[in-house]
Amino acid sequence: MTTTRSAFPEGGQNWPELQREIRNRAAGDLDWEHGRTPLFVFRNDQETYEIGRNAYFECFSENALGRKRAFFGIASMERDVLDYGLSLFNAPESGEGAFTTGGTESIFIAMKAAREAYRHKHPEMRGQILNIVVPITVHPAFDKAADAMDLEILRAPLREDKRVDVAEMKKLVNEKTIALVGSAPCFPHGVVDPIDELSAVALEADVWLHVDACVGGWIAPFFTRIGRPTPHFDFRYEGVRSISADLHKFGFCPKPASTVFYRAADDLERATFKSDSWPNGPFATPTLVGTRPGGAVAGAWAVLNHLGTKGYEDAARRLGEMTDRYCEGILEIEGMELWAKPDLSLINYGSNDFDIFLVSEKMVARGWLSGLTRRPKGMHAMMSLLHDASRDEFLSDLHECVEIARKSPKIEAKIEAKY
Ligand SMILES: Cc1ncc(COP(=O)(O)O)c(C=O)c1O
Repeated sequence: MTTTRSAFPEGGQNWPELQREIRNRAAGDLDWEHGRTPLFVFRNDQETYEIGRNAYFECFSENALGRKRAFFGIASMERDVLDYGLSLFNAPESGEGAFTTGGTESIFIAMKAAREAYRHKHPEMRGQILNIVVPITVHPAFDKAADAMDLEILRAPLREDKRVDVAEMKKLVNEKTIALVGSAPCFPHGVVDPIDELSAVALEADVWLHVDACVGGWIAPFFTRIGRPTPHFDFRYEGVRSISADLHKFGFCPKPASTVFYRAADDLERATFKSDSWPNGPFATPTLVGTRPGGAVAGAWAVLNHLGTKGYEDAARRLGEMTDRYCEGILEIEGMELWAKPDLSLINYGSNDFDIFLVSEKMVARGWLSGLTRRPKGMHAMMSLLHDASRDEFLSDLHECVEIARKSPKIEAKIEAKY
């Protein structure tokens, strides 16, 4: 019988051999450094990348789980990063936060905090299936959280401009609702939900409002500061009780790094997992994971201090201008439409004249991985500054692929999701 399982290695390989093999294995990867992946990797400039990387390796071995007992340097850098976020998002004095490994974790623990707050207020509802009310565009991380915590998830449709229809959200709220959610922006269409209106609904219904600013949180305020009108989404709206914001996306920090903030320190307590049942005594983490890379904390701290206000404003300016150029180029193609006007640098476009999935298929064949939306059928990209230099080449290929699709009979191109 033949087996494809790798045998446990005998060992003894040295670094040059291992490095060669690592590079061999990556040789077939997409050319992400030249903007050929529409997501996964975020880059500002070379210097920022190197600072993040150097800081990461400076604290490569430290474990942020031990920040209070052993790694005081990591603790103080983490405190700084959380303070920077609390001021960026206009949190009141009572605000607190946690440093996590990603958007999914930030969302998960915010939902846990919301559930605990609800249970505290409604002890009589123990054992009931509770729910969260979300726009149809929220990230599947909410489905994961709902699945793991046995919550029902109620989804509201969008308005014409692809922001959630708040009147529809309001209709879904009931006595078992633990949280409302809005995105800033949502991944599929790149637009910020009307957080001001959601805040009013949350206050009226006395329900927790979480803002998922995972993708745009650390850059959106700088779009506003340079005069590109980006809707507010933060604690300035009284109803906003928690915010998730990823450092490893448009904060341009090394992975894995995200943050979650709460209006009140009590809510961080509610998010905290506590246990006192094993022989070693009490154990508590404000995160879902235990061990966390100290390098991610040092990397984020260094990148934030390197870029600062000026650096993020500059990145926002360059990202905004790049997105404008992409949108202009896409709209120059006959029959192509933007499905939403992007608030940041996530774009979603398609056509009623030709099969956009066929265009995508042809682009993939040319080495451009393509993000997709199914409703409406569209191509999708979450662009960082890695996509700037490749813009002309991308648009020229897109043009050619559209011409092929235009001439092809309108059969449904088959696109399978791959993970
Ligand atoms: C809006 C939004 N929320 C949450 C996430 C999940 O983030 P992560 O992949 O870091 O878990 C993403 C990822 O793209 C996102 O776009």
